[in-house]
Amino acid sequence: MCGIVGYVGQKQVGSEVVIEGLRALEYRGYDSAGIAFLRSDKTLCLEKAVGRVQNLEGQLEQIDDTKATAAIGHTRWATHGAPTVGNAHPHYNADRSIAVTHNGIIENYLELKQELEAAGYEFVSETDTEVIPHLIEFHTNRSKTFISGLEKAISRLRGAYALAIVTTKTPDTIYAARLSSPLVLGIAKSAAYIASDPMAITSHTKDVVYLNDYELAAVHKDGSYDIRDYKRAQTVNRKAERLEHNHASGELGNYEHFMLKEMHEIPDTIRAATQGRIRPDSNTVKLGGLESVADQLRFIDRIVIVACGTSYYAGLVGEYLIEEIAGIPVEVQLASEFKYRNEPFSRGTALLAISQSGETADTIAALKKVENYGVLRLGVVNAVGSTIARMTDSGVYCHAGPEQAVASTKAFVAQVSVLTLIALHLSGGNSPLYKPILHELEHLPAKAESILAQAKDIEKLAHKYKDARDFLFIGRNYGYPCALEGALKLKEISYIHAEAYAAGEMKHGPLAMIDENFPTLAIATDSPLLEKTISNIQEIKARKGLVLAIATEGNKDIKRLVSDAFYIPGSLEQTQPILIALVEMLFAYYVAIANGHNVDRPRNLAKSVTVE
Ligand code: M6R
Repeated sequence: MCGIVGYVGQKQVGSEVVIEGLRALEYRGYDSAGIAFLRSDKTLCLEKAVGRVQNLEGQLEQIDDTKATAAIGHTRWATHGAPTVGNAHPHYNADRSIAVTHNGIIENYLELKQELEAAGYEFVSETDTEVIPHLIEFHTNRSKTFISGLEKAISRLRGAYALAIVTTKTPDTIYAARLSSPLVLGIAKSAAYIASDPMAITSHTKDVVYLNDYELAAVHKDGSYDIRDYKRAQTVNRKAERLEHNHASGELGNYEHFMLKEMHEIPDTIRAATQGRIRPDSNTVKLGGLESVADQLRFIDRIVIVACGTSYYAGLVGEYLIEEIAGIPVEVQLASEFKYRNEPFSRGTALLAISQSGETADTIAALKKVENYGVLRLGVVNAVGSTIARMTDSGVYCHAGPEQAVASTKAFVAQVSVLTLIALHLSGGNSPLYKPILHELEHLPAKAESILAQAKDIEKLAHKYKDARDFLFIGRNYGYPCALEGALKLKEISYIHAEAYAAGEMKHGPLAMIDENFPTLAIATDSPLLEKTISNIQEIKARKGLVLAIATEGNKDIKRLVSDAFYIPGSLEQTQPILIALVEMLFAYYVAIANGHNVDRPRNLAKSVTVE
């Protein structure tokens, strides 16, 4: 989704720093980009382009003087108004002395716009953002200092925002403010940075200050900064913290696409999520992140998991795991639904948020909803230092590293791996499944490698099914969330209509859709319910439906029944989802490639969904 980068410093490298930062954020999905920089003559130069950051760079090359000690830039994912140059950020006031980039949505923008129009302000875009520079001008003209007027203007905004502001009035300082949208300051010796994602600035500094809601920061060219909480009207003293982890954007290497690269990282992802947490010598699980809440966890009698998209489906796998292994009732809710529901919520309930980015607006809102309930808030998050990681009481990091393709692959695997460890941890070792699962987790990376080694076979299957207009995914028990995730993967990158059903539901409606043009991907791996799934496959076959099955190696019978089968190595039913998901991801990838789609940046989607 939208991305923000800002620079202020002694060196005249603002434009370069901002463009480099915007490039690092490209993977998040966007439709236009723009930059505002302060020239040495203290005038503000604005450039915007539809499409790639590369287009913006091309425009900058045509400009004589791009040297800047202060600059802000933006990649926009359209919400209010089409992706046009006029709607691209930065937005500015009439005399172009103030420029603003904004992530989020200003909910009261119409009201503010009417008020500003009545005061004589004119608008040139369809965006909600454009009210901000005018509002800043209005208030700063009536205030003693720029910052006090800025504070007044920002206090009037409702909704969600991360803002970066540059002005000719204070050329040595740029500004940042946030409410419900991530923003971080990067601090260096003679420069300071602003970014919506640390990935945009870690090549310059690893010393960062995360802003909290209702905070306004002034960052200065000598690397100093001042933060004010404008809700409580008080100064905030917050030291920079060092990012120890590697936020590097990662290179494609020899891979054609990030999605392919990230699928090939899955064996290592399983290792990274489990290693050091499994103690094979003593057969125990150690989750450092949960130690501080060990006492509270003892009294938990229900867990509500909240998440969106793929993370939600990982949560559904987690539900089966935690209930079966630890015996604790679990409910999984879509974060976007949870936040508006009025349901009873006891103190014995823990809320567990799952998120790759740690910045998903709906999941953040779900956590905020229970802020005053006195309940334990846990996180399974990939992005270290992200908003969700910081707002939860405790949690377990996925350690999957940066995931750049919009379609989640290795993050799903890491989430399921971590949820398996959490289930084992919560069981206190009292489940008969405890040791077998611990043991199997160590063998999973090699099994994932063997699937990757057969990617060519999956590619052949993808070519056979690439022209399908519809696809059904079915599975039972642990196979059911896998079916849901498989259908999501196929639709989001190949744009083929795909639906998932619990196999037992076929007779209750979906069977009506089946004919020779409506293929089914059936998860028919080893499980106590396999025979029942086979019956469902028979029913589909009887209606002339083509069936592509994911089965367990050694099951020769299934080959005779279905049109096509792909075999995964034998594994426990509880650990199979990781292997099944890998096959589904590869299948979706090859179908999308065969149909000529941009797998890393599918249409209409963004990597990090920071608006509701
Ligand atoms: O960053 P999050 O895990 O919170 O994101 C949630 C969803 O937006 C995300 O999983 C989305 O569904 C992916 N594109 C799926 O591949």
